[in-house]
Amino acid sequence: MADHRDYVLGTDTSEAERLGVQHRLWSDTAFAAWHRAGVRLGSRVLDLGSGPGWTSHDIAQLVGPSGRVVGIEGSPAYIDAFRERASALGLAHASVIEGDLHELSSLLGGDAEGAFDVVYTRWVPCFLRDPATVIEQAARALKPGGRIAVQDYWGYEIMRMVPRSQAFEQIAAAAGASINETGDTGVMGKMPGMMRAAGLEVEHFAPISKAARPGDAIWDWPAIFWPNFVPRLVESGRITQATADEFADDWRRATDNPDAVMMLPPVFEAIAVKV
Ligand SMILES: C[S@@+](CC[C@H](N)C(=O)[O-])C[C@H]1O[C@@H](n2cnc3c(N)ncnc32)[C@H](O)[C@@H]1O
Repeated sequence: MADHRDYVLGTDTSEAERLGVQHRLWSDTAFAAWHRAGVRLGSRVLDLGSGPGWTSHDIAQLVGPSGRVVGIEGSPAYIDAFRERASALGLAHASVIEGDLHELSSLLGGDAEGAFDVVYTRWVPCFLRDPATVIEQAARALKPGGRIAVQDYWGYEIMRMVPRSQAFEQIAAAAGASINETGDTGVMGKMPGMMRAAGLEVEHFAPISKAARPGDAIWDWPAIFWPNFVPRLVESGRITQATADEFADDWRRATDNPDAVMMLPPVFEAIAVKV
């Protein structure tokens, strides 16, 4: 069993920054999910796998000092980054607990039963060894009428570029396979079932698709994502250096091609209420 500290994308500064850029590119959909889940002034919100805190800090600004945000995170480096940024932003009501999400109830202690209005988690379930257990404990932490909102990618393999790049498709497939070593890139297809098994009523389940052309802000997403991930895929033998180089060339050519398009993997969103 892999330790959660071995999170496949790493937790160094460049990965924290990548998450920040990725958050900004997807923040419209995060705010929409928080709105749908009922986050408002005074809400008590749990953010599972909060990373350096990009989402937790935005939520803390939404709920204000009369509310509360608690992140749960496995990486000590991200915990430090979370606390430093919360302090710089004056968000004393945003805190983070270090630990493994599979032990959520014991990490929450006295807050394990009904202490939260909303639980949120994004880009985390696919990395979990046993996401059903985590959802079940998250459901327990909700008050009756509280909601859980989950967002994660599902379908790395449908990533495509036009003009077609074989190297891009190989890298997308290798990225999915590497996540599947310890997690499950198909977890969002199972999420409504997991939520129901945890006693929740599913209110919303839908994909959010994004495509990009060179010059669109989201076009830069792979340019930020791959420099961290591709060397790891080469090191682990999932792709060759030649494939990595071929992809870099294809990407440069596509960026200069006004006719190029790219389809990103969809993020699926599931929202459920505790009745
Ligand atoms: C892709 S990042 C997403 C971070 C954040 N949710 C966001 O949207 O910016 C995944 C995060 O989940 C954390 N994580 C993964 N598995 C975990 C586990 N079992 N326990 C605690 N944290 C975990 C990682 O350390 C990492 O910070």
